[in-house]
Amino acid sequence: MSKTPFYKEHWINIEVERLERYQAMFGWSPASKPLYGSADIREGQVVADFGCGPGHTAIEIARWVGREGHVHALDINEDFVRQCRDNAQKAGFSQIVTSQVVNGATLPLADSSLDRVTARNTLIYVDDPKATLKEFHRVIHDDGKVHAIEGDWPMMVAEPVPSKKWSALVEAAAYACRTPDIGRRLPGLLSQTGFSNIELEVVTRPDLDGRLLPMIRNMAGYARHGGQMDAREVDDTIQLLEESLIDRAYLVLAPQFVVAAMK
Ligand SMILES: C[S@@+](CC[C@H](N)C(=O)[O-])C[C@H]1O[C@@H](n2cnc3c(N)ncnc32)[C@H](O)[C@@H]1O
Repeated sequence: MSKTPFYKEHWINIEVERLERYQAMFGWSPASKPLYGSADIREGQVVADFGCGPGHTAIEIARWVGREGHVHALDINEDFVRQCRDNAQKAGFSQIVTSQVVNGATLPLADSSLDRVTARNTLIYVDDPKATLKEFHRVIHDDGKVHAIEGDWPMMVAEPVPSKKWSALVEAAAYACRTPDIGRRLPGLLSQTGFSNIELEVVTRPDLDGRLLPMIRNMAGYARHGGQMDAREVDDTIQLLEESLIDRAYLVLAPQFVVAAMK
């Protein structure tokens, strides 16, 4: 039997400490709303949030679609699916949000049954992005739209870390993703899987105050775990970034590729 690759395994089995950290990392922030503009989600629509995590985005989408709409929150991790269900219930949206575990490209949804499918920082992890996008194409109806927000790890910048050191860390961490440069590939992948009217925006909200440090510490954890880079070097790089906040030399850029396309 073939072994589950790490890029998948580390989402199926999340240790308690990481799960707790993710609670804070995968919240909903009003600053994210503009990233969903091109998704054009409206009242009454049926939407899937693929890779929903603890469900905060799915719950926000439930506010947008309202009582006449529905949100299918899908994730590979059972704890997240449970948390999403609990969070939706606490927020009073249990009738609107349905959470389900998915593993693999096949979605538990009927052909042409959705108005929108959205995914954020999840296509970077799937086994076969083309197969997943083809599946999105199947479940979206003829006037429906796909929307995705994905990073591109090799495009990240972390000042004042020397670029060679930073590239080494990114490369050592990238085995935790299936397609670390998914961002730049999305328009081509959407076109190759039958989508049209592809809109692309590349958005970078510069981080001058450490907002992205939890994400970078998470990447450092992957780099340490992978063993491709000496753990001390990983620690030194993180320490350099943390200290640079004090003398204000710190700047992190993490471009987000926001794509929307019609079926
Ligand atoms: C970086 S988190 C993003 C969570 C959420 N979309 C957000 O932006 O806050 C990636 C999410 O994708 C899920 N995931 C990873 N691989 C997946 C797969 N193959 N199918 C479905 N979900 C997956 C993870 O469990 C996790 O919830």
